[in-house]
Amino acid sequence: MFLLAIETSCDETSAAVLDGAASIRSNVVLSQDAIHAPYGGVVPELASRRHESTIGWVVREALDQAGVSVGEIDLFAVTQGPGLIGSLLVGLSFAKALAYSRRRPLLGIDHIEAHIEAALIGSSGASFPCLASVVSGGHTSIYLMDGELEYRLLGRTRDDAAGEALDKVAKFLDLGYPGGPVIEKLGAGGDPRAFPFASPQMTDRSLDFSFSGLKTAALRHIREKGLDKTHPRLPDFLAAFEQAVVRAVLDNLGRAADRHPPRSLVLSGGVARNARLRRAFKEFARERSLEVFLPSPKLCTDNAAMVGALAWKRCARRGEAGLDLAMNAYPRFVVPTPLLRKKKSP
Ligand code: KG4
Ligand code: ZN
Repeated sequence: MFLLAIETSCDETSAAVLDGAASIRSNVVLSQDAIHAPYGGVVPELASRRHESTIGWVVREALDQAGVSVGEIDLFAVTQGPGLIGSLLVGLSFAKALAYSRRRPLLGIDHIEAHIEAALIGSSGASFPCLASVVSGGHTSIYLMDGELEYRLLGRTRDDAAGEALDKVAKFLDLGYPGGPVIEKLGAGGDPRAFPFASPQMTDRSLDFSFSGLKTAALRHIREKGLDKTHPRLPDFLAAFEQAVVRAVLDNLGRAADRHPPRSLVLSGGVARNARLRRAFKEFARERSLEVFLPSPKLCTDNAAMVGALAWKRCARRGEAGLDLAMNAYPRFVVPTPLLRKKKSP
């Protein structure tokens, strides 16, 4: 059986072919970084227009690299949301057209759940309960999984996502886009204790995140110390800011783990490529003797293989597959269907 997955939720056009839950035959990712770099962030209209002109090539390339024809595909999968609505609609419409013309089923997949699945590809599965942190440019959320394919949102960012905060600070210093990898590179030799950052805390005991305070503190340091690209203290500042972002993610994970003791942990999303975050996360898990799941760096950022892997699992475990031509894209987080069902029952 062959599955073709498509991902266009933000600024990566991606298609992948799988012939098993962990058997990735191809995973083509076409980045739009160069298009958005002059603006220091993703410009939604440019992103959807670019998806529109490249999706055909990306899908063909994924099929060619896998050595299969579109007629051999048994199941199609596509990211349905959350993400930029124009970008999502390009992938969704393309996937619907393929499924319709080939008379094959199409599964709509949640982008954040797919990020979590990226960490589990090739493993024998997490032990439950599992706490999953998704830390990316568009989302920073923490989920409790009581079982396979069961996701309960415990907290999410109320303002900027962690990656967005890194991108904005890099933009302010004119360091390039995306900001996360640049900050990691330029801050590598810096002293993270050289600039103070207070850890964000919610006053209402919620497990939500907030990164706008850290971003404002960063901009204040930049102005007060006159920091710029060439300043000798730039590496110290970048290391300290990166460390503050890492601490905010782990402090919240610690609070979640105290309230919902897990047996395993997942870390995923674009920011999970960051070496400082990966190190701190593994150390956190080691101290608590928890099993950890992290995607390979390539599978941390947006890609269609993670969408395909989740679709494969859903199809195998729940037998879900059909073609719903009314299926629509959704821009923000929606409450997963199993939770809605649970709520309704007496
Ligand atoms: O998961 P992703 O590709 O897209 C979203 O779903 O948002 O994540 C992109 C984000 C960007 O904000 C980028 O700056 C960040 O991931 N990122 C990193 C690193 N690589 C990518 N942040 C910190 N360190 C990195 N090495
Ligand atoms: Zn993503």
